[in-house]
Amino acid sequence: MTAKEQLELDRLPRHIAIIMDGNGRWAQEQGQDRLYGHFHGVQSVRDIVEGCAELGIGYLTLYAFSTENWDRPEPEVTGLMELLVETIRKEVPTLNRNNIRLHVIGNMSMLPEYAHRALREALDMTADNTGLNLVMALSYSSRWELVNAVKRIAEDVRDGKVDPTSIGEDTLQSYLATSAFPDPELMIRTSGEYRISNFLLYQLAYAELYFTSTRWPDFRKVHLYEAILDFQGRERRFGKTGHQVRVEQGLKP
Ligand code: IPE
Ligand code: IPE
Ligand code: MG
Repeated sequence: MTAKEQLELDRLPRHIAIIMDGNGRWAQEQGQDRLYGHFHGVQSVRDIVEGCAELGIGYLTLYAFSTENWDRPEPEVTGLMELLVETIRKEVPTLNRNNIRLHVIGNMSMLPEYAHRALREALDMTADNTGLNLVMALSYSSRWELVNAVKRIAEDVRDGKVDPTSIGEDTLQSYLATSAFPDPELMIRTSGEYRISNFLLYQLAYAELYFTSTRWPDFRKVHLYEAILDFQGRERRFGKTGHQVRVEQGLKP
């Protein structure tokens, strides 16, 4: 049986988040410059978005550009930004055909004006779609997001809109860039790095983490199915004992 045939379709993760890593090394291994890797990474994005839409996954968050990535050499930053924005613009008809709604999270104030315009348009043009929610993390970092949330909560407390004694996890969640999305249940990182790199630190609290040595430009649907299959083999305990969890699920304890 193929990995896809083995998937339990009623137990798919509702939200998958991916750190798309390894473009630069993939390119360098072929004697090409780093942008060549980013260029090829776009094909993987298409394939994985299509794969998630076909399975009926609710949310897919892709880490495309981190706040820290602004510190890379200027030609790579410019090339990558142009590639990302241009790709999003070009893919809008495909997103609409597949009922996919685009969202963007990140520090948009750092993006150039042309990027703002293109993103705004793509967001508006896909806003009525009701299938897969595709969340692009662009100029995103979790620490930026948390600092931003704390600032806005402080302002609302100052303005009398929030009572500090009533602040709970729900309050913080509602100030995050991801407030409209459920937490990811599966987080995949490609290219053999075992770290989170400032991605969704709060939201990944109970996500299952899956690391693969496959470089992002080589990552295809079959690799996605393997990751989901691995996820389905895990026991998610949320702090309880394995015995409790199995009893709750009506399984043999
Ligand atoms: C991931 O690939 C894409 C971005 C970070 C934008 P990298 O560019 O980080 O590739 P490596 O990790 O250097 O191979
Ligand atoms: C994380 O990858 C960011 C994205 C994939 C967009 P990096 O390649 O920037 O992370 P580090 O530097 O290896 O931690
Ligand atoms: Mg990297």
